[in-house]
Amino acid sequence: MNRMIHLTVNGRKKSMAIDIRSSLLEVLRDQMGLTSIKQGCGVGECGACTILVDDVLIDSCIYLAVWADGKSIRTVEGESRHNTLSAVQQAYVDEGAVQCGFCTPGLVMATTAFVEKNKGHAVTREAIRKAHAGNTCRCTGYQSVITVTEKCLQTDGEPNQ
Ligand code: FES
Ligand code: FES
Repeated sequence: MNRMIHLTVNGRKKSMAIDIRSSLLEVLRDQMGLTSIKQGCGVGECGACTILVDDVLIDSCIYLAVWADGKSIRTVEGESRHNTLSAVQQAYVDEGAVQCGFCTPGLVMATTAFVEKNKGHAVTREAIRKAHAGNTCRCTGYQSVITVTEKCLQTDGEPNQ
């Protein structure tokens, strides 16, 4: 059975007919072509499909697309503006926090959510680790992700909005 849903995806309004059984990952990746969203485990364990829905981190593989009706979605494709990477994206590049890159879009969104929530507050490395605990990196590049997060929390510039 199909149903119309209305989303705001990376700032753009979009209405589309979807199969009510579809996950948000399937709709965004397969119907909308947002290929930053990766399917790893498909069961909410690895974080490769992490995006923001109304600024809350979710695993889009286990989130039905109908639940997103009327909501605002952010994926890594929408984080850069006018060919300029967001502060978090740029920090990932500068720190070399990318290896194979499969986990990177999800990690960037996890870092972005954490930095936006905690900027200006003192946070521990343990809190940063916990904030990224839902994102598995098969290349084990966690140390640089923690460094990126610390640097983004310290810089004056807000993530690119
Ligand atoms: S693919 Fe969604 S959490 Fe692994
Ligand atoms: S960079 Fe390879 S899985 Fe994380």
